[in-house]
Amino acid sequence: MNSLECPKASLARRLNNFSGSVARDILSRTQNKEIISFAGGLPDASLWEDLVLPTVPPAAYQYGPSEGEMPLRQIMADRASAFGLDAEASRTLITSGSQQGLDLAAKLVIEPGTPVLVEAPTYLAALQVFQLFEADIQSLPLDTEGIDAAVLDRYLEQTKAPLAYLNPSFQNPSGCCYSLERRREIAEVLDRHATILLEDDPYRDLSYESDAPPPIASFLKNTPWIYLSSVSKTLIPGLRLGSLICSEELFPSLLKLKQAADLHSNRPAQFIATELLSDAQKNAERIEKLRSHYQQKRDLMESTLRADFKSLADWKKPSGGMFFWLTLKDRVDLSETLEECLKQNVAFMPGSPFFAHKNDHPCCIRLNFSLVSREKLENGTRVISRVIKSQSGYYSK
Ligand SMILES: Cc1ncc(COP(=O)(O)O)c(C=O)c1O
Repeated sequence: MNSLECPKASLARRLNNFSGSVARDILSRTQNKEIISFAGGLPDASLWEDLVLPTVPPAAYQYGPSEGEMPLRQIMADRASAFGLDAEASRTLITSGSQQGLDLAAKLVIEPGTPVLVEAPTYLAALQVFQLFEADIQSLPLDTEGIDAAVLDRYLEQTKAPLAYLNPSFQNPSGCCYSLERRREIAEVLDRHATILLEDDPYRDLSYESDAPPPIASFLKNTPWIYLSSVSKTLIPGLRLGSLICSEELFPSLLKLKQAADLHSNRPAQFIATELLSDAQKNAERIEKLRSHYQQKRDLMESTLRADFKSLADWKKPSGGMFFWLTLKDRVDLSETLEECLKQNVAFMPGSPFFAHKNDHPCCIRLNFSLVSREKLENGTRVISRVIKSQSGYYSK
């Protein structure tokens, strides 16, 4: 019997409605060097050219603690304390990317049918994790300042959801950065309902106007919380390292889940990250360089979109992060758009996978601006706009 004939009954039931990541499928089709890809959330590799990696000492080849290496836990906790979170190294876990933080949090709270609140749109790989654990995903619309606290209050009253997943600083995919006021209001609502907050914050350092306000978790008074960071967007994603900081009562269970998942995160990677992050001054200079580089790309994309997409879509220039989120004025079949663009060596992300409920959302696309070189950016967006125009009958109008 070959593996394709493996009877379905022998696999876990949770796989029945579980789909693979559309983003990763598209990414696997964007490996050729010719392609101009706006599809992923990938950093610009040219920024690593002057990064000197330290030599890993043999001591780091050995098994290590599940919590992670103390110097790195301390760095991640100090960083979070600096922007207002009640963070301590003793409550900080080093994870295999913040993606593992999502997995651990889901394992901690979600049973089949557990209601989980997310933003609409939201990070698609978080949806994938919640779907794997068979959550009853409830989504709340985002406006320019975040989700509405009064709507959240009503939803929590109705659903009694034990978990809310929010990505309030330069959200993936919308770029939305919650206002300070909204953060306070939402914290107050979560506290009142004793809903656990899962706050995902990998884009905080990529701000191009002003810093993001403190995390929502820093305003909570009594409900438990989990706060995720990552080194992927500001250092090197291939290290696969993130951090999970949480309130006291959740730490022992999350640590046990981490032990069961992978014993501990990669130690040579932790050594490299610690060495690169421990010089605060150098690190601040590196982040500043990154910001200015991405800010220029964002501005270039804004002007190319204004030239090519003005009649086709609405969007808000993101004040941080890595993405433009465009809402098309006319509906088109975006899977067709994508196929045609791929034939012309251009890739983007259709908006649908970012919504928990696939049928009742606007026609959107996500465009990443961090990866593509400035020289190719304009050509790439032009291809997408031309394909959309040909589909929407624009040329015959
Ligand atoms: C909102 C969000 N959360 C988590 C992740 C996962 O990041 P990591 O590389 O740290 O696993 C990403 C990656 O794109 C993301 O956009």
